[in-house]
Amino acid sequence: MAKQEDKFKKVISHAKEYGYVFQSSEIYDGLSAIYDYAQNGVELKKNIRDYWWKAMVQMHDNIVGIDSAIFMHPTIWKASGHVDAFNDPLIDNKDSKKRYRADVLIEDYCAKIETKINKEIKKATKRFGDSFNKDEFITTNTRVLGYQEKIDTILSRMGKSLEKEDLADVKSLIEELEIACPLSGSKNWTDVKQFNLMFGTKLGASAESAMDLYLRPETAQGIFVNFLNVQKTGRMKIPFGIAQTGKAFRNEIVARQFIFRMREFEQMEMQFFIKPGTQKEWFEKWKETRLKWHLSLGLGEDNYRFHDHEKLAHYADAATDIEFKFPFGFKELEGIHSRTDFDLSQHEKFSGKKLQYFDHEENKSYTPYVLETSIGLDRMFLAVFSNSLVEEELENGTTRTVLKLPAVLAPNKAAILPLVKKDGLPAIAKKIVEDLKWDFNVVYDEKDAVGRRYRRQDANGTPFCITVDHDTLENNTVTIRYRDTMEQSRVKIEDLRDIIKQEVDVKNWLMKM
Ligand code: GAP
Repeated sequence: MAKQEDKFKKVISHAKEYGYVFQSSEIYDGLSAIYDYAQNGVELKKNIRDYWWKAMVQMHDNIVGIDSAIFMHPTIWKASGHVDAFNDPLIDNKDSKKRYRADVLIEDYCAKIETKINKEIKKATKRFGDSFNKDEFITTNTRVLGYQEKIDTILSRMGKSLEKEDLADVKSLIEELEIACPLSGSKNWTDVKQFNLMFGTKLGASAESAMDLYLRPETAQGIFVNFLNVQKTGRMKIPFGIAQTGKAFRNEIVARQFIFRMREFEQMEMQFFIKPGTQKEWFEKWKETRLKWHLSLGLGEDNYRFHDHEKLAHYADAATDIEFKFPFGFKELEGIHSRTDFDLSQHEKFSGKKLQYFDHEENKSYTPYVLETSIGLDRMFLAVFSNSLVEEELENGTTRTVLKLPAVLAPNKAAILPLVKKDGLPAIAKKIVEDLKWDFNVVYDEKDAVGRRYRRQDANGTPFCITVDHDTLENNTVTIRYRDTMEQSRVKIEDLRDIIKQEVDVKNWLMKM
């Protein structure tokens, strides 16, 4: 645990030190759970967004994008169920006065049991070596089975109680499990209450005529209310999808873990409109497609798993999370939800406008069902960033900090370094920068010894360093150094563009899907 916390602290401080993420309003002591993306962070974030957009919109003939407004008519949130049901169950500790999400306290308790399972697996791996069969072990070892059963029983009871709005039972569960406040160690809890997560604001000049609005808590509703506009103007045929990326806002009770849970964040969502009755098939299809997208980035297959929901959101008939192994354990990265016709039917009811699709093949109208994929851009940023940050022991006994970002996502693709600041080398290096910057973000760096510059670029996540030296003057060649292997090779200046393109081209990465 301490090791995990240590690693996470390093991630946060590295993000600041290397210009990726800053605390918002830092000079005024910051705002809790609000962050700013810095000069490198904004590029990484943009590259992740583009990677998603390309895969979802550009590569699918039947998916188009929109960019709807953050402010929307307040009735939308009544229709969608957010006014009445977008709540988190909260509980206060009477001694520490700290507020918690009741479900998170219970989930954290289960995560501790899971740590015990992992310890058993580790021990057995050591004992049995190469002959160890993990799948067999976790399905037969009595201790592991006992732990797993305990987790399943707790989560299932919590899911049922939350679904029934039986908040008294959620409190009982916390008491029965003897969960203590992580801050004070006290078990002196208030009752569990529901807390609405939407931020309110006002539209209008005078106090009397102002209209109450909400900052959108998800981008999805902007897609639903535009469904018919897009379908008609784009002459879209079912099945088809509408995608959008944009800000969402939630007044999170437990806002912690850096950019994992923020109050202002960005989502990348896609609603896929389908024929009623086909939702199971599309649910499986999108689970597979989205997992492949994640795997194409090479962050490691073992770092992902599906987690099916026990407690379904008010709009869903099936839901799963793609969880990622963050420095603090497996947590939700993306949600895939079978939303039925809930949203469109609700908007029909509340707006009084028909939101139906006429199916020419079937010769009838119906309200389409919807399959949603929804991923937090900031969470994806954290997944990529934390997974990429490594400390490596080198052969000479020193260590290096390297940010092994997938090259396709790295903010700067190459750093161009003159070996020395004289003999005409800077001029050649600057010419290379001028030439490459039409195609890639590149940086020029001449300060400090070249070894230090390599280390700086390693920590910055730059996949290639290109060094101009005295041989360059003779034969127009440079050395290219690869961040991850530290290997170097001599290449012609005229070949640089193609070499870099090969490594950073979105197509080459997405083809791995
Ligand atoms: N439209 C469906 C929807 O919003 P969700 O599971 O509440 O579903 C989808 O959110 C994704 O948005 C999550 O998987 C997560 O990646 C991201 N997300 C949700 N709340 C967040 C928060 N407070 N901070 C950062 N990302 C968040």
